[in-house]
Amino acid sequence: MKIGVLTGGGDCPGINAAIRAVVRTALQNNYSLIGFLDGWKGLLNKEHINLDLNSVSGIIHKGGTILGTSRTDPYKIEGGAEKCKKNFKGLGLDALVVIGGEDTLGVATKFSKEGLGVVGVPKTIDNDLSATDYTFGFDTAINIATEALDRLHTTAESHHRIIVVEIMGRHAGWIAVYAGIAGGADVILIPEVPFDINEVVAVLKKKKERGKKFSIVAVAEGAAFKDKSLIIQEEKLDSFGHVRLGGIAQMLAGKIEEMTGFETRSVVLGHLQRGGSPTAADRVLGTRFGVAAVRLIEKKKFGRMVSLSGNDIADVPIEEAVGKLKTVDTNFYNMTKIFSA
Ligand code: F6P
Repeated sequence: MKIGVLTGGGDCPGINAAIRAVVRTALQNNYSLIGFLDGWKGLLNKEHINLDLNSVSGIIHKGGTILGTSRTDPYKIEGGAEKCKKNFKGLGLDALVVIGGEDTLGVATKFSKEGLGVVGVPKTIDNDLSATDYTFGFDTAINIATEALDRLHTTAESHHRIIVVEIMGRHAGWIAVYAGIAGGADVILIPEVPFDINEVVAVLKKKKERGKKFSIVAVAEGAAFKDKSLIIQEEKLDSFGHVRLGGIAQMLAGKIEEMTGFETRSVVLGHLQRGGSPTAADRVLGTRFGVAAVRLIEKKKFGRMVSLSGNDIADVPIEEAVGKLKTVDTNFYNMTKIFSA
């Protein structure tokens, strides 16, 4: 068997653990392997490297992806999908392991329907993929964001300030809600529940009145004022049709200062949440997913994605993971209101 591996979309900690596990498991089966560079672009342009034990040695602790990534959608490039299919056959591939999020796996679903032997491995810091309880990358991101909130606490407290912290996650509030709880944020705002600025201000004032001289507001980048649309950095769409979110923390901080008179600052955590070494949990999940992906190939269970169900590794149709965004449950979010007192 000859297997290809590619990583597409936003990088995240734990991808290298998954690549390493795919390669090690496949080599045990005497399969040969190539890694495509920069996601679907590598398959499109036939840019690839051989993967052997040495190429995956010493990478488990590294963030990012040794294969590189891009947000390329071959279906949006004229003749792109046909070229990919031709290259898949021309290179003599039997299977392709696609490590990606919603967009990359969406392309994988299309190729699978057109007959390519594709298996999916879910990855994203946003944890917004359906059909899997968790994705690797998420645990690292929430730990980085939690540490940032801890650090901001001490400076906010010393200066008696409000600090508004913008947290990634696109249209899902998972990172904000987990890091917000763990990092002791006073107010947590997520995309799933548009917020009323008057309510936020009321909470901050109440806290001040009871003697708390500082507050931390954790706001997801995709959160929105009840009466306004999303705050975006750039109108330009990427090839999957996404705008660049960002700017809500600064806007919210300005409003809070204007409405309360409390000195307020804003911080954007941005790509820090995606960079650097994965946590042990993400290394283990990446490894489990990588091994399971090769097991799917052994059984020729194509068109399927490995997933986490409870603490068990399962597999589901890739389509199931990308059909609908997994967003934060409102009951879970409502629990965070206990911090507003
Ligand atoms: O999907 C992962 C993610 O980090 C989102 O949380 C964020 O909105 C987006 O990617 C940022 O994309 P880029 O790296 O292209 O700026």
